[in-house]
Amino acid sequence: MSERVGIGIIGGGLMGKESASAFGRWLALQNAPVHPEIVAVADTNPAVLEWFKRIPAAHCLTTDYHELLAQPDVDIVYVAVPHHLHEQIYGDVLDAGKDLLAEKPFGIDLASAERIAKKSKDSGRFVRVSSEFPFFPGLQEAFRYLRETDIGDVLEIRAGFLHASDLDRSKPINWKRQIVTCGEIGVMGDLGMHVVHVPFRLGWIPKSVYAQLQNVITQRPDGRGGSAVSDTWDNATLHTNVEIKGQSVPMTLEMKRLAPGQMNSWSFEVLGTAGGVRFSTKEPKTLWIYMADRTQSWVRSDVGHKTAFETITGGIFEFGFPDALLQMWAAFLFERSGILDERFGCATIDEAVMSHRLFGAALDSHRRQVVVNL
Ligand SMILES: NC(=O)c1ccc[n+]([C@@H]2O[C@H](COP(=O)([O-])OP(=O)(O)OC[C@H]3O[C@@H](n4cnc5c(N)ncnc54)[C@H](O)[C@@H]3O)[C@@H](O)[C@H]2O)c1
Repeated sequence: MSERVGIGIIGGGLMGKESASAFGRWLALQNAPVHPEIVAVADTNPAVLEWFKRIPAAHCLTTDYHELLAQPDVDIVYVAVPHHLHEQIYGDVLDAGKDLLAEKPFGIDLASAERIAKKSKDSGRFVRVSSEFPFFPGLQEAFRYLRETDIGDVLEIRAGFLHASDLDRSKPINWKRQIVTCGEIGVMGDLGMHVVHVPFRLGWIPKSVYAQLQNVITQRPDGRGGSAVSDTWDNATLHTNVEIKGQSVPMTLEMKRLAPGQMNSWSFEVLGTAGGVRFSTKEPKTLWIYMADRTQSWVRSDVGHKTAFETITGGIFEFGFPDALLQMWAAFLFERSGILDERFGCATIDEAVMSHRLFGAALDSHRRQVVVNL
């Protein structure tokens, strides 16, 4: 029997429920060192708490997260709340002596992220940041390929995360579309950590950035018959430079809420003179590898359900978003138990702070219409 760990969830909205359902599928994992159980949930909206009543071990359902933090059987807290609340709540979690899986973007801006990072490190608690897309088997293969293959001189890198639902102008406003709750970085705070996680893990940290930011839809229905200002950036394209083997390489990062035809497309592509790799969740079981031989062909292969953390799921079955979330939680809990080994880990505190440094520089770049050195 693996050790039981008590999980508390603060913020039971979209992501709070997704994580809860990942724990519901925990038995799919092989050799897990621990068995997570949700014992407490806090959300200011009592209606949200109703849903969590289906979890037998959840004995504390509360509108006051301090009550959750006072529960001795809560070992780890997952916090999924609007960005302006990150700093206060993450700090309170650490003060209560709990480990933390924080949501991105890890504070509303760079200064906030740096304060959370300092507090996290001083606390000695285990803290990681949520970012699940790299756990798709296709990306895991791509990552392994890039680690093990000499692709020659790297020519370019592209990474993106594209949404389309905001093209619907009748979609009501929510906290993600307002600076006061989402942050001035807007779409970068919403989608950016997902885009930079893999490049950062490969050591590709931008030396400079030129940003193109767009706020196209500036008013949305307020849900009460009126309209409200939508003042966050909808789309961000960051033209960055990274240094690889002494050469300056262009790396383009795209984060878009207005991308026609893209429902939730996360993609990563690297081209070199002697090889290349391409993966997108639009074709979630497909990996493309570039063969730099006479044929200059792109070879397509199906990757199946070959996961970093072994599961009972048949190797030929399709992998999807809930599986990525399960794998991310496995990465968090295996690493917390000291047995991550060579496997891909969750986004780190430093990676989250670096992402904020990049997004802050992108704001500056766009404002002054210049290339900003980092
Ligand atoms: N990893 C991912 O793929 C992913 C996807 C979407 C959102 N997110 C991140 O997750 C976080 C939450 O986003 P979401 O989409 O779940 O938002 P959401 O609006 O669906 O849910 C947020 C919940 O927090 C609750 N809440 C607000 N203030 C609270 C407080 N003081 N105490 C307790 N609960 C409170 C709200 O009532 C709501 O139920 C954000 O940081 C967001 O960037 C991550």
